Amino acid sequence: MDLKNIINLANYAPSGDNCQPWKIKLEQNRALLFNVPETDLSLYNYKQQASLIAHGALIENIAIAASTKNVSCEISILPYINRPNLVAEINFSPENVHPDPLFSSINKRVTNRKPYKAIPLSAKEKSLLMEAAGQFPNFELKFYEGENKLPAANAFSVNEGIVLENFYLHRFLFSHVSWTKQQDNLQKVGMFIKTMEILPPKSFIFKLCSNWKIMKFLRLIKLPKLIAKENAAIYAKSSAFGACLAQNNAQEDFIATGRLIQRVWLTATGLGLSMQPLMGIPLLHLKIQSGETVGLSPKHQTEISKTYKKIKELFDSENQNILFSFRIGKSDPPSAVSQRLNLEQILLK
Ligand SMILES: Cc1cc2nc3c(=O)[nH]c(=O)nc-3n(C[C@H](O)[C@H](O)[C@H](O)COP(=O)(O)O)c2cc1C
Repeated sequence: MDLKNIINLANYAPSGDNCQPWKIKLEQNRALLFNVPETDLSLYNYKQQASLIAHGALIENIAIAASTKNVSCEISILPYINRPNLVAEINFSPENVHPDPLFSSINKRVTNRKPYKAIPLSAKEKSLLMEAAGQFPNFELKFYEGENKLPAANAFSVNEGIVLENFYLHRFLFSHVSWTKQQDNLQKVGMFIKTMEILPPKSFIFKLCSNWKIMKFLRLIKLPKLIAKENAAIYAKSSAFGACLAQNNAQEDFIATGRLIQRVWLTATGLGLSMQPLMGIPLLHLKIQSGETVGLSPKHQTEISKTYKKIKELFDSENQNILFSFRIGKSDPPSAVSQRLNLEQILLK
């Protein structure tokens, strides 16, 4: 079985700030997927929840890629309590499997941060996206498509201000930006500046923002709030906002969320739709909700809790947690795509 080929393709999975928090041990008919916590120690990644979502996407990619090679997968999630970083054990066997049509979108799926066109999703598009999420019975995919999207756009963009005001979030973000193609080719993790779609002269200001001392000054003139407002105007022109909702939020629920979202995202890609996760507020809220407030000022804690409540109201999701949220719409292709580590860099000897 050509497992290396399967893993190579699966490696296109999305991850928070493109940290690619995985290492994989390949054996004859088996793959062990390990989380690498040190790759993402951001405040957004409380209890590695964002990384577990990324692992879910990786697992789904593996199953989809394997199906096209007549290989079936038996997936055990978090198989051993005493090995917390072992996220999944996948046993492969040669079998006649129906090839998953999402296969052809795996290496085309991207995060598109460009402005979208404010065209509503068609009934057909929506039903295919819902169908993609339908394999996960304990989860619900919901869309917010109100005529006036500004309230949702404003809520999601609150994160874009906070990330520039909080020392730890700021440091993490800018330590994951590659400013040149050369740097990006070398590092292969993190985000190439062009994928962030910040045009001149704003790109110049963004570069200034990377210096915390300058940023502290720019806070005085309320630049973070201005940037959040500009992002809100872009987000408001999406076809819809989407959310994956669940009553539980245990480790395995984040992995399942990643699997669900990957199927939705690949379906969207096949339909020519663009997506951008908008995860700042839900991820920070998960941390605050657990009573873990280290690194967040009381003012930001209140702002995050209030904003999360607002987003939940918009999605009419009183008793559910938002485990993933995003915007979706029609757009020009992104100006650049992010890199991935080579197979040799993610395989354990
Ligand atoms: C759990 C998770 C959270 C993410 N949150 C955001 C986000 O809040 N904003 C954003 O622009 N992209 C977000 N992303 C997208 C990643 O930055 C992106 O997947 C990564 O940079 C790789 O790029 P690609 O998706 O184009 O392959 C998130 C991805 C994951 C898996």
